[in-house]
Amino acid sequence: MTTDKPRILTGDTPTGKLHLGHYVGSVENRLALQDQYDCYFIIANKHAFTTRADKPDDIRQSVIDIATDYLAAGIDPAKSTMFIQSEVPAIDELTFFFSMLIPFNRVMRNPTLAQEIKDKDLGDKYPFGFPLYAVGQCADILAFRPQLVPVGEDQLPHLELTREVARRFDQLYCGVDPHLEDKDYVKAGGLFPIIEPKLGRVKRLVGLGAPGADGNLLKMSKSLNNAIFLSDDADTVQKKVMGMYTDPKRIHKTDPGETDPAKNPLWAFHETFNTDTAWVDEHRDLYKNGKVGDVAVKRKLVDVLNALIEPIRTRRKEFEQRPDEVIEVLRAGTARANAVAEETLALAKKAMKQDYFPRELKIR
Ligand code: TRP
Repeated sequence: MTTDKPRILTGDTPTGKLHLGHYVGSVENRLALQDQYDCYFIIANKHAFTTRADKPDDIRQSVIDIATDYLAAGIDPAKSTMFIQSEVPAIDELTFFFSMLIPFNRVMRNPTLAQEIKDKDLGDKYPFGFPLYAVGQCADILAFRPQLVPVGEDQLPHLELTREVARRFDQLYCGVDPHLEDKDYVKAGGLFPIIEPKLGRVKRLVGLGAPGADGNLLKMSKSLNNAIFLSDDADTVQKKVMGMYTDPKRIHKTDPGETDPAKNPLWAFHETFNTDTAWVDEHRDLYKNGKVGDVAVKRKLVDVLNALIEPIRTRRKEFEQRPDEVIEVLRAGTARANAVAEETLALAKKAMKQDYFPRELKIR
């Protein structure tokens, strides 16, 4: 499958099933882009080992779950390529070379890594491979020389690192003038494009629970136990929504923050998922004035979410019956991904003058 369409690369770390935060943060974007772009979706299983090296069974299951979720959400394997990171060795080889191009301190100043160390309470006990994964992510991306990288906001520091690696490589090994503008690197002979991030419609979807210590709602996340999954059945969606946190101060008309969606997940969800904006505006007012209660607004949200999730859930059930088909999609996708990544690696080695022998890689 060769195409002249510009490429996209993005992906997920398999630490569980996909939830609504993934949906509005990136899956929705991918569905919209898969017609105009040649899309590559990496299931970053090696990244899962940074914090879960003791749980290989879980990681394996999650790889299959994520692929099943992609297919159920409508990612079409005839248009898009989904693949398994650890089965594309060119990525590891590029990682090693790339790791020579960035100072160690620069990697450790990456705010996403710092945040993860804090959130997951890693202290100074994280493995060597933990900071290395940020360099690995540069290779995940650059192996495909994509134009666009659709991600959530939290990934932007990784993309900035990717841009730095690409500039450095192109300057050192492809003779690109460091004064050139990013968009001109490839025209000037650079192997790697200076990629552009593309953020989703919703940068950060809140979870179902109460605000954290700083008064802000926490982001939807499996590990915080505040998520609605694309695979949840209708009853589970109902139970989760009906039990969702709401701001107890909402009927205090004098409190200007009373229906601030940033403080009340119920309205954050309506604003994100309910396409009937007239209903939302009207009921937000009624709610503010104590004329409509939590239960009615939650019931409406149950309907809205179930209408979104129902077709995904149905397709998911079909794929669950045919696990071999999911594996086959991954095998075929991984073979296609290897064709591109091997080509990139060969070009990179040539640029670095380390092209000694030809080679061919086979996935069976
Ligand atoms: N780190 C990303 C996440 O946890 C997943 C990921 C790995 C990724 N490699 C990538 C995303 C390359 C975009 C591009 O969500």
